[in-house]
Amino acid sequence: MPNFQFDEYGAQDIDRTYAGPDIAAQREYVLSLLGLRPGERVLDIGSGPGYLAVSMAQAVGPTGAVHGMDPSPAMNAIARARGADIPWLRIDDGDALALPYSDDTFDVAVSTQVYEYVADMPRALGELRRVLRPGGRALILDTDWDTLVWHTADRELHQRVIKAWEEHLVHPRLPRTLAGLLRRAGFTVTGQGVHVLFNPELTEDSFSASSMKTIAEFVPGRQGLSEADVAAWLADLRARNDEGDWFYSVNRYVFMATAP
Ligand SMILES: C[S@@+](CC[C@H](N)C(=O)[O-])C[C@H]1O[C@@H](n2cnc3c(N)ncnc32)[C@H](O)[C@@H]1O
Repeated sequence: MPNFQFDEYGAQDIDRTYAGPDIAAQREYVLSLLGLRPGERVLDIGSGPGYLAVSMAQAVGPTGAVHGMDPSPAMNAIARARGADIPWLRIDDGDALALPYSDDTFDVAVSTQVYEYVADMPRALGELRRVLRPGGRALILDTDWDTLVWHTADRELHQRVIKAWEEHLVHPRLPRTLAGLLRRAGFTVTGQGVHVLFNPELTEDSFSASSMKTIAEFVPGRQGLSEADVAAWLADLRARNDEGDWFYSVNRYVFMATAP
């Protein structure tokens, strides 16, 4: 079971991290692939802090509509505040496994960094297909945590930390199965791509800086890790940075598909 809590604290953490340049670049990549047109009806499944939903609402304009949807009240409060001045953007309560919309409602549906938390993917993709109109476009983005390259001196400790971190979601390696899952759900896969989060330097607003903090808070007590182990992991990373050897890279994969 996923253990990351999208409560008020977790939501604020993601809100801060996703304001940074790495995730802003990811959103630009997603928006360029989507090619939204004025008037389109768009669903954002697991819209979280709402940055992407707001950008998509700006792209479709007042003749279109964007529905963000998320089960987390804390996330939805942040997203509603972010989109408060856009009347054609709504943030709904709901779950990827039971989308609160009628069949054939949307031209486009996106879900970024969400399905890795959803255990029953065939059911989730069945719901995605149901709410898209025939020929409607889907875009899914998720991380494969096997692609994480993060320079540390103590590789054994680092591997334990990352193994413990993988407990924060149900599918740490979802992307490699996504094209097949989409095809089996009846979609035609029209494109696949990769967005690399690459930090060759540690800056305060980088994704790796946030990750360090989030992981250090999450892993104590998991995989036998003590607070002292986690302090040693953090000290190792800081020493790499002090020596000018910071290196962080992880891949997020994108899948585009059309509904039958
Ligand atoms: C890492 S955040 C990503 C937020 C947003 N999609 C983005 O990229 O900015 C993951 C989000 O997935 C949501 N989530 C988790 N389980 C979900 C489910 N079963 N259905 C829909 N959303 C879910 C969480 O509440 C959280 O807002």
